[in-house]
Amino acid sequence: MNSFLLSSFRKFDKLTREQARQVFSRTLDDIERYETAFNSLSRGILVCDERQKLVLTNKSAQRLLLIKHHDEYTEPVWDIIKDSTISEFLHDTLSSGNSGDEQCFVFEGSNSPRRLLNFHVLPLVKEHHITGSLIIIEDVTEKKIREAELRRIESLASLTTLAAGVAHEIKNPLASLSIHVQLLQKMLSYSRETCKKEDTDTVMPFESMGNHLSILNEEIGRLNHIVVDFLFAVRPMNLMLIKSNINKLLKEIIAFIKYEAEDARITCVAELQKNLPWIEFDERYMKQALLNLIKNSLDAMQNKTDKVLTIKSESDDTQITISIGDTGSGISGENKAKIFEPYFTTKKMGTGLGLTLVYKIIKEHKGEIRVDSKEGVGTTFSVMLPLPQPKLRLLNYAGDSYEI
Ligand SMILES: Nc1ncnc2c1ncn2[C@@H]1O[C@H](COP(=O)(O)OP(=O)(O)OP(=O)(O)O)[C@@H](O)[C@H]1O
Ligand SMILES: [Mg+2]
Repeated sequence: MNSFLLSSFRKFDKLTREQARQVFSRTLDDIERYETAFNSLSRGILVCDERQKLVLTNKSAQRLLLIKHHDEYTEPVWDIIKDSTISEFLHDTLSSGNSGDEQCFVFEGSNSPRRLLNFHVLPLVKEHHITGSLIIIEDVTEKKIREAELRRIESLASLTTLAAGVAHEIKNPLASLSIHVQLLQKMLSYSRETCKKEDTDTVMPFESMGNHLSILNEEIGRLNHIVVDFLFAVRPMNLMLIKSNINKLLKEIIAFIKYEAEDARITCVAELQKNLPWIEFDERYMKQALLNLIKNSLDAMQNKTDKVLTIKSESDDTQITISIGDTGSGISGENKAKIFEPYFTTKKMGTGLGLTLVYKIIKEHKGEIRVDSKEGVGTTFSVMLPLPQPKLRLLNYAGDSYEI
């Protein structure tokens, strides 16, 4: 209890009117301060009396539980809360005096998103007597999502290390297989020549043996490609960051894909912002990321009649945005959530590692990637690369400048 208020209360009969006014005014100030602090808490607080009637709620509790503020609540706290599971928990805990109980619930209002709320019920003790209950509500939605994400990343990291080891081990026998198939091909063509020269009667199915070996070679090449891409996707990258002009790289890429686009009757539109600020990037990796995006766009437009590929660059004070847009098949809502996952592909011959690599390269550049797509209309991938921000400078009283 506030000592000033207590001593004033004890001398209440002796106070002059002016002194009583001062006590009131100071008490009101104190209450206002307490209320402000109480309402500023991010946790929701419900205070109940000994009959479990709600006597106090802060703003966070009202917001989290979607309850209205009343000066006086007439019903027990469990009757005020809309959710039946939470209401039952509070009823059971408070009526049996099991204070100290803590439990998490999913709470969903008719117009509000699902939240994960943690309820902690504590006794309210005054002079060794329980005078009511204190219910602390914490919104743990983001915390739980982060925890789950972290667990997923950790298990993914150990899995990828394991898989990278296996992939590396596969690479060596693959190389050996490839060499032996090539040797067999050479021997076969030598035998064919000898048979031809000697005009022997031996009937060797040279043609079909050759075909089988070519297929073997192709499949080995494909497996090798998958393994190399996979290792590239999971191993840390050593970026060679050099300050340069993204537009220069985009122009090179456009020149590179020009003929393939022309062949496929695709109109290529370049909208490159003039005087784009230079930034540090690894030209080789960035080229690979952008080419992967463009390759996907070209694939997506294969069965369309109106084929336009738009390559754009623009900047604001904080970032450079490169976008690759197409008028292709678009991506369904369901697939959009999976496209960056390793091995997700909707293509017969796709490895599903293209976008995984793009994501990794952009993340290594501290950038972001966004996809906007409409099924049947087209897709735009936007790559946002941060521009270095000028450091804040503070002047001290002597006029010297400090960097922070
Ligand atoms: N521009 C796009 N338009 C429509 N779908 C796309 C586009 N880009 C990606 N996708 C979808 O995302 C999937 C994954 O793309 P990703 O580049 O990772 O693999 P892929 O292209 O299937 O195989 P790879 O890149 O190994 O050839 C594709 O199979 C496709 O379904
Ligand atoms: Mg691809």
